[in-house]
Amino acid sequence: MNAMTAIDPADWADEFPVREQLVYLNHAGICPIPARTARAIAEQAADYRDFGSVHYRRWTEIAARGRARLAELLGASAAEVAFVRSTTAGLLIVAESIPWREGDNIVVADIEFPANVYPWLNQERRGVHTRFVPARDRFPTVDDYAAACDAHTRVIAASWVQFATGQRTDLAGLAQLARDVGAYLAVDGIQGLGALRMDVAPLGIDFLSADGHKWLLSVEGCGVLYVSARVLGDLKGFWRGWMSVPDSGDYLGYGQPPRDDARRFEEGAPNMLGAAALDASVGLLLEAGPAAVEERVLALTAHVAEGARRLGCEITSPPGERQRSAIICFRHPRVSSDEIVAHLATEGIAAASRLGSVRFSPHFYNTEEELDRALAAVTECL
Ligand SMILES: Cc1ncc(COP(=O)(O)O)c(C=O)c1O
Repeated sequence: MNAMTAIDPADWADEFPVREQLVYLNHAGICPIPARTARAIAEQAADYRDFGSVHYRRWTEIAARGRARLAELLGASAAEVAFVRSTTAGLLIVAESIPWREGDNIVVADIEFPANVYPWLNQERRGVHTRFVPARDRFPTVDDYAAACDAHTRVIAASWVQFATGQRTDLAGLAQLARDVGAYLAVDGIQGLGALRMDVAPLGIDFLSADGHKWLLSVEGCGVLYVSARVLGDLKGFWRGWMSVPDSGDYLGYGQPPRDDARRFEEGAPNMLGAAALDASVGLLLEAGPAAVEERVLALTAHVAEGARRLGCEITSPPGERQRSAIICFRHPRVSSDEIVAHLATEGIAAASRLGSVRFSPHFYNTEEELDRALAAVTECL
């Protein structure tokens, strides 16, 4: 049993053979996939190889189970979940589908990862302006967003967790603000989903998009778009494709309306391998338990913060308990973060450098010993 949390990483060692090669602290970049996920992909690839589409029904069942598991992780219903090819793709669906009025605006912080910026900037062509919340070098608050909103604000768009600071956004506060000003809340969820607990409905989130390749422990190219049933009907301009309709097997029945659930946004042939990978990985996360996973990643990032402080580093992630996440960033007053991360790589430690800080992003299966090894390697640079 691990001293700190309910999860014992030893119980999960077989699922994460990456630990035999590396200390992997870059889940906020691209994650290693669990053994069961690699098997699920390999089994389906073998099926494609040996049988073509003969077992297609089985693949659709796996994808359906994956959708149900994603819904469980989100606290949503399966009818509110669409598979998408990236976080960006999900946000593009939302941004392109809102029936905008000329003069509407979108409010977004100026420290967002660009996946949550371009879909909104694209709306300039419709006379819809993106207003940036000035947040450089700071941790934006709900009040900062409020100051940028007015009666024409149609969307508040925010990352659940900021990629370069690890700040966890007060989504309940932003949802309340969105309700107050009559706007939608759109969330880029990729830096939180799979690491932190989510419950979309009580939070009042309208849209959330996340690809699979970070905390969800899956692969690039298949993620999830949540659209609240409350607002599904508001989205009008999406691409209706042949698979968006209730009876996609009625090939010549062109007059069909879109499906009445979020699958209306899945316009054509699905990414079956990606869906199988998500099914396996989300199954693993549910087995580990979202509350236990959250408790563990927060304990691990607290451990890093403590160690990095002892080395004379400044913690550049927010200190407040409610703003912490599975990402922890720090910098040394003299040694550049790029240099530190490059040295860590030579020691078999995967981390990242973002906006001048070293970024560690451990997942629940990482151990305190691994973190201490990484911190010891940081010391070698100082
Ligand atoms: C906050 C955030 N959003 C989105 C992405 C990726 O977007 P996409 O899934 O569209 O590649 C990243 C990281 O790559 C990110 O950190």
